[in-house]
Parts: sequence; structure tokens; C-alpha cells
Amino acid sequence: MPRVLVAPSVLAADMGNLNEECKRMMDAGADWLHMDVMDGHFVPNLVLGAPPLSSVYKAVPGIFMDCHMMVTEPGRWIKDIAEAGGSSYTFHLEAAYDPLDIVRKIKAANMRAAVAINPGTPTSEISNELGESVDMILVMTVWPGYGGQKFMRECMPKVAELRARFPNLDIEVDGGVGPKTIDHCANAGANVLVAGTAIFNAENPKEVIEFLRSRCEE
Ligand code: DX5
Ligand code: ZN
Repeated sequence: MPRVLVAPSVLAADMGNLNEECKRMMDAGADWLHMDVMDGHFVPNLVLGAPPLSSVYKAVPGIFMDCHMMVTEPGRWIKDIAEAGGSSYTFHLEAAYDPLDIVRKIKAANMRAAVAINPGTPTSEISNELGESVDMILVMTVWPGYGGQKFMRECMPKVAELRARFPNLDIEVDGGVGPKTIDHCANAGANVLVAGTAIFNAENPKEVIEFLRSRCEE
């Protein structure tokens, strides 16, 4: 399995202090920062965009921005996010008319390409060609839109199935991930762990990050 990575989701950060919050997470040992971008269309919430991401990128040396694009037009923001310093661009399969074309465009913009599936989308929707062309698959473990929702354990067979199909691919889980649910993710074979409230609201984020990582490395 590829390296285990922990990516705190900034949706749970104090948005008025985003740069400081991202620095706080880097100091706590975060591998990536998970930047949730929502367009108020694909999901019923409106959060972030290229300008604040660009500000974070300039303020936090060495940051890897894992941009989760919950948007209706995934192709539209590739250039803006790349210019803002995005490292990885995750689009939703449900929003993509031609996923392979989106992947090509993301790579041409020098970002890692990832595809996300909602809880209602089966893994059979991900063709072998698509799985082999992306750097990561994100299996949502809540319906996207808000932080602090309950982890959907019923999504774990999808993670296990994708891990079996793509042994060397990064497989990310997002939504309700924390110390109480991490073992389900570990057993299914996830290696990129997004957690918002569980890390940002913790008294000791460093401890939580290390705990999540260690449960998956075992
Ligand atoms: C949900 C977002 C998640 C969210 C996770 O729409 O994609 O990244 O912030 O938050 P928690 O970990 O609190 O469920
Ligand atoms: Zn997310």
C-alpha cells in the first residue's frame, strides 16, 4: 500500500485566520492540507475559491494543497486553482461529462489528478482506464457539503474494492473520519485520511494526526 498521509480539512478551521490555521496544522505534522471548495451548486454550501488558496500558498512554506472541488463545472477552475498553488485537484465523477479529459487538463496544469465519488455512486462507475489515469480516488464517507457529519461505514466495501483493483493508488476517505472511525478506514485499505472536526477541534491536533496515521500504518 502507498504511504499513509493525513490531510486536515480546512472546512473546520477558523476561516478568518486561514493562513495561521494552516501553519498550525503543518506544525502539528499534517502531510497535506485538504481545501474544500464548494460552489453552492454541486453542494448546498459556498466555501473558498482560488484567492484565499493563493494567500495560504504564499503564507505557508512547503504546503501541499489537496483541493477537493465540489463544483458543477470541474473543468472551469483548473487553471485558477493551479495558479493559486494547488498541488492536487479532485473533481467529482458525478459532475464530469468527460472524466478522462478533465484528468488530462489537470495534469497539463501540473497538478496531481484525483476523482471523487459520492456515497451513492458505485465503484463500477470508475473504469479501469480512469483508475489508471488518476493519482488518487476519493471515496466520500458522508454526503459532501458540511463538516461534522456522521461517518458512513457502508462506504467501506467501496474502499476495499478499489484497493483490490488498484493496489498502488492513493485512496482517500473524507467525512466523519476520526479516532473512532479510523479502524474501519484502515481495514478497508484507505491511505489518505481527511479529517476536519476531529483534528481542528482537538485539544492536541498533533496527537490525533499521529494516532490516525499509526492506525493505518499497522
Ligand atoms: C465534506 C467535506 C469534508 C469535510 C470533512 O463535504 O468534503 O472534507 O470537511 O469534515 P469532517 O471531518 O468534520 O467530517
Ligand atoms: Zn473534502
